Amino acid sequence: MSTKKFLLEEKDIPTAWYNIVADMKNKPLPPLNPQTKQPLTPEDLYPLFAKKLAQQELNETDRWIEIPDEVRELYKHWRPTPLVRAYGLEKALDTPAHIYFKNESVSPVGSHKLNSALAQAYYCKEEGVKNITTETGAGQWGAALSYAAKAFGLELAVYMVKISYEQKPYRRSIMQTFGAQVIASPSMSTRAGRQILTDHPGYQGSLGTAISEAVELAMQTPNCKYTLGSVLNHVMLHQTVIGLEAEKQMEMAGEYPDVVIACFGGGSNFSGISFPFLRHKLTEGKDIRIVAAEPASCPKLTRGQFQYDFGDEAGYTPLLPMFTLGHSFSPAHIHAGGLRYHGAGSIVSRLKKDNLMEAVDIKQLDSFDAAALFARTEGIIPAPESSHAIAAAIQEAAKAKEEGKRRTILFNLSGHGLIDMTAYDQYFAGDLTNHELSDEELSKTLSGLEQII
Ligand SMILES: Cc1ncc(COP(=O)(O)O)c(C=O)c1O
Repeated sequence: MSTKKFLLEEKDIPTAWYNIVADMKNKPLPPLNPQTKQPLTPEDLYPLFAKKLAQQELNETDRWIEIPDEVRELYKHWRPTPLVRAYGLEKALDTPAHIYFKNESVSPVGSHKLNSALAQAYYCKEEGVKNITTETGAGQWGAALSYAAKAFGLELAVYMVKISYEQKPYRRSIMQTFGAQVIASPSMSTRAGRQILTDHPGYQGSLGTAISEAVELAMQTPNCKYTLGSVLNHVMLHQTVIGLEAEKQMEMAGEYPDVVIACFGGGSNFSGISFPFLRHKLTEGKDIRIVAAEPASCPKLTRGQFQYDFGDEAGYTPLLPMFTLGHSFSPAHIHAGGLRYHGAGSIVSRLKKDNLMEAVDIKQLDSFDAAALFARTEGIIPAPESSHAIAAAIQEAAKAKEEGKRRTILFNLSGHGLIDMTAYDQYFAGDLTNHELSDEELSKTLSGLEQII
């Protein structure tokens, strides 16, 4: 029997994160001040983010950024995570492809989100910050940050997208167990929330709205910073521990991936697994494909526009250069709550614009078909978000079979779905549908974008 699991030791946990921007010939466009349209400096970001995070956000020169010992110590609670060869899935697909997955679902909160949550909470604590705020979609980021806030003794308020607050009550319980305050968004506790509830009574929320609420609370609370679980460059940076470990593990397996795949919300787990491999392409010209799997109902990379846009619904954030569906885009109520975001981070957007990566869109039912097959062949119930990566990996494996080629496929299993069983129940009951976005719907939100680029 060939080896199934590739395990590293504690000493192999990376000591530095990889900053891909240092190796990019075309740097991402800078974030802009919405009033002056001038590029932001780290100092402009200090009121909102911890200083070290603001500096990381705009760092274009340092290829490696040291991981603080305190963060690395906490990484040891579950890292390094296993790399697994999906023999069961390969057999079920009868494919010549070799399929590997990096299992980030083994973290204490069940997803990759803790890699950045611990770093962000640490830098806030180091700076003497007492309170932090954030938003969460499906609750994975909120759960991770709640754990991290507790680890570093910070008070945390989480705005949770209302539809997920109702669909995934146990994620709310997890956050409360770690001591966070959780508020369903939109709420009456902020101006942004009151405004959207006035304009759209009964609105079930979006990540864009929840971000506005969390930013507003942070700006109005003394000694308080805002934190974000995706999209921003420093979040991508922290997640590179995934790919840096996977690089060593693929070497242990004696293989190199032809294609690296991850699901895509704002881009953090995608960047985490793929950037360390993409570095081989950028610096050594290595032939490797990287593929983002996004929901067909929220297709910013496949159908969005490359333009400056706000990261939130109310327009409180800086203008970010992104593939976007427009910040007023209201995504369909799919169960992959963490993928319901209108834009892609600026690094990924630049890479996509320069054809250094690809994107595919996955329909909700296809993602659940893939999830069920994966669960039955590999014994892990994947998060609805991660299931998009599995579906894309299955498509690649089918292509390999059609072409009779032995490809090596690596995907990121960003989280488990043990708190998402309501979604699985609905899938098995036949109550789930595909949500396709019409061109008319799309042009409505895109037409509101100011043409800055
Ligand atoms: C398990 C899981 N995977 C993926 C995502 C998508 O986020 P990102 O694109 O930042 O990795 C989320 C977001 O909540 C998530 O919970």
